[in-house]
Amino acid sequence: MNGAGDGKPQEGAGTPVLALERVTGGYSGAEIIHEVSISVGLGEIVVLVGPNGAGKSTVMNAVLGRLTLAGGRVSLQGRDITGTAPERVVRQGVCYVPQTANVFPNLTVSENLEMGAYIRRDDFRPRIQEMYELFPPLAERRRTPAGYLSGGQRQMVAIAKALMVEPVILLLDEPTAGLSPRFRGDIFRVVREINARGVAILMVEQNARQALGIADRGYVLVDGRNRLDGSGAALLADPAVGTMFLGGRGNDTAGDDGDRAGGADAP
Ligand SMILES: Nc1ncnc2c1ncn2[C@@H]1O[C@H](COP(=O)(O)OP(=O)(O)OP(=O)(O)O)[C@@H](O)[C@H]1O
Ligand SMILES: [Mg+2]
Repeated sequence: MNGAGDGKPQEGAGTPVLALERVTGGYSGAEIIHEVSISVGLGEIVVLVGPNGAGKSTVMNAVLGRLTLAGGRVSLQGRDITGTAPERVVRQGVCYVPQTANVFPNLTVSENLEMGAYIRRDDFRPRIQEMYELFPPLAERRRTPAGYLSGGQRQMVAIAKALMVEPVILLLDEPTAGLSPRFRGDIFRVVREINARGVAILMVEQNARQALGIADRGYVLVDGRNRLDGSGAALLADPAVGTMFLGGRGNDTAGDDGDRAGGADAP
């Protein structure tokens, strides 16, 4: 029940697109996440917030089969994918945009999109056209190496590249990190647009206020454990969330989190 209530399927109805049930695991012995449970329903935008080092990216890795699991279950559309290798997870329709190094800087925009289609055997050119319609600035810069683009446009390339596989769910790890408020807004609008086209979204975000503002539901992760969850609106209104995340950093006007791409983003 929030700003995203635009005729979507009932939240929580039916089998979740993605579900983690009491997942415990980590890297080479060190357990990082403990009994974490998260679900993303059909048509939902779900946001995962938490302090640095809370294990948010590790949750993404658990979905992608990149974690040593000590317990729990990951399922995609009701099918068990616990421990399935990353490439097979992607083939099953999980698109993933990592937190860093998410484009090939020396390749042009169009080459990046072609790389995103590497597992497709069919004609993906119509999909590339769709991506240029979704991200008009990229259409104009299709022959430009991605490394020359502004931070915001590079994130668009990263998202479009991931979407070259027809997704059932899109995982985004801090897609607005380092962007100025204006370009953050562009990314959040694009996320809503992708979602409106029927793709469920699980997004890790530091800019908690804006992210929860577009979320159907959210989860707060602290020290590798579930701390709070609820609708985006309920979490925004929760004083505990306010203390943790909304005290200036991450709000629309603060712009204090490293506007690294600000200058380059100017048209
Ligand atoms: N590949 C890895 N090998 C070993 N430990 C790791 C690895 N990646 C992350 N960690 C550790 O796991 C913990 C959680 O890291 P993670 O990256 O999941 O946190 P996060 O919530 O995404 O943080 P941030 O907000 O900084 O991105 C940290 O203590 C980190 O040092
Ligand atoms: Mg992270």
